[in-house]
Amino acid sequence: MQDDALFPLLSALAAVYAAEPREEAGRTARHLLEAGPSHLGAAHANDAILAEMAAALAASDHPAVQAILAGAHLLPWGDNPVAAQAAAAGDIYVVCTLMGPDGPIPSDDFRMGLFWQRPGTYYALHSHDADETYVIVAGDAEWTAGDDTRLRGPGEAIHHPSLMPHAFRAGPQGLLALWRWSGDVNTHSYRMLPDPRAVAAA
Ligand SMILES: [Fe+2]
Repeated sequence: MQDDALFPLLSALAAVYAAEPREEAGRTARHLLEAGPSHLGAAHANDAILAEMAAALAASDHPAVQAILAGAHLLPWGDNPVAAQAAAAGDIYVVCTLMGPDGPIPSDDFRMGLFWQRPGTYYALHSHDADETYVIVAGDAEWTAGDDTRLRGPGEAIHHPSLMPHAFRAGPQGLLALWRWSGDVNTHSYRMLPDPRAVAAA
């Protein structure tokens, strides 16, 4: 039964948000638990990506790691709401969307899911109208949020207010994180920004 792995996974993600002191985090946690796994539908998974992810998770002691290891292959990977504006994204990262106006768990107020960035890659500066929080589960990254660039690792919650430029250079294990949009969750405002470090990373 898929639910045997998916319900613990959703519960683990909700527990992560329950520990984050933002009102929108608590609302997202409650919505995950109320909706349950029946919305999630068919899985889309790439074996190579799942293997990379499992290696990073094996080295993590984050509380959600076991539930994600058990259920990651059942999730709809590759469903990126900003795919049209994020050229070359597929070579760098893969997104799983669990909640949003287009589903699979319906919400007009939030988009959220998981984010896997491949080892050693650079996701260049970008911005969007939505407020955003990433919570790192496994791996690490040199993380730029506005003027602040530093190494971020498992357990850290990084908040980007609306329109703050952000960029991530994944470490040697890659980076697995929860992502959540709130506020104005439109996708048309997502844009890549001029970034001299993107050339150096190519
Ligand atoms: Fe973002």
